Amino acid sequence: MGRKPLIAGNWKMNTDAVSAPNLAREVLQKTSRLRNVDIAVFPPFPLIPSVLKVLDGSAIGIGGQDISAELQGAFTGEVSAGMMTSLGCTYTLVGHSERREYHLESDELVNRKTIRALEAGLIPIVCVGEKLSERDGGETFARVERQIKVGLAGLSKEQMARVVIAYEPVWAIGTGRTATPQQAEEVHEFIRKLLATLFDQQIADATRILYGGSVKASNARELMSQPDVDGALVGGASLSSDDFAAIAESAG
Ligand code: PGA
Repeated sequence: MGRKPLIAGNWKMNTDAVSAPNLAREVLQKTSRLRNVDIAVFPPFPLIPSVLKVLDGSAIGIGGQDISAELQGAFTGEVSAGMMTSLGCTYTLVGHSERREYHLESDELVNRKTIRALEAGLIPIVCVGEKLSERDGGETFARVERQIKVGLAGLSKEQMARVVIAYEPVWAIGTGRTATPQQAEEVHEFIRKLLATLFDQQIADATRILYGGSVKASNARELMSQPDVDGALVGGASLSSDDFAAIAESAG
């Protein structure tokens, strides 16, 4: 459908002042000849400037792992979308399951953050996905539907055209247990149909829907060969430049 795949590396709370720019340098070297795939990395906040410096002028995008829903002011410990834009970031993750689980982020808060990101000129990667108990209880589609409906509520079509979605079944994140390509495709297809009803067919066809959850060099190609899987949000394997580059290569 002409959607350019996106491979996003979520470094989570890993790397430091020395290893973050080193990892960025290696990723740049190992992916520089890939043309048909977009690549982005998501370092921890304080390491973003050092990574930006290494990737300056390259095609690799950089983003934060979260942003505040607030504009600015007395919100100790928070980082605003405007700060990220002013640094030179292009993306932000929003609603990652670890934020939802450990920081009790609701679908409504994810919506406010998504709007805040768009207003600041960032591309939000809005993460959705069911827990194991929800999958086992047959609630996968209902859960994802609510996350998408509420998470994207109030967005104009122009705004939605800049949003990326990541489907990350919680039971597959960091567990080594990956959704089968069929399990992933079934939910991706569902999300795309939902986007067509919430926005329009053109937007649904153009929106990139990434899969996340134990993506590795060995399973990336098969997952991304599914018609509605447009790339990957990679956690653990993004900390190895070889693995991350191999995943990017299998998309491009
Ligand atoms: P994982 O993490 O690849 O380590 O499962 C994915 C994510 O949390 O984005």
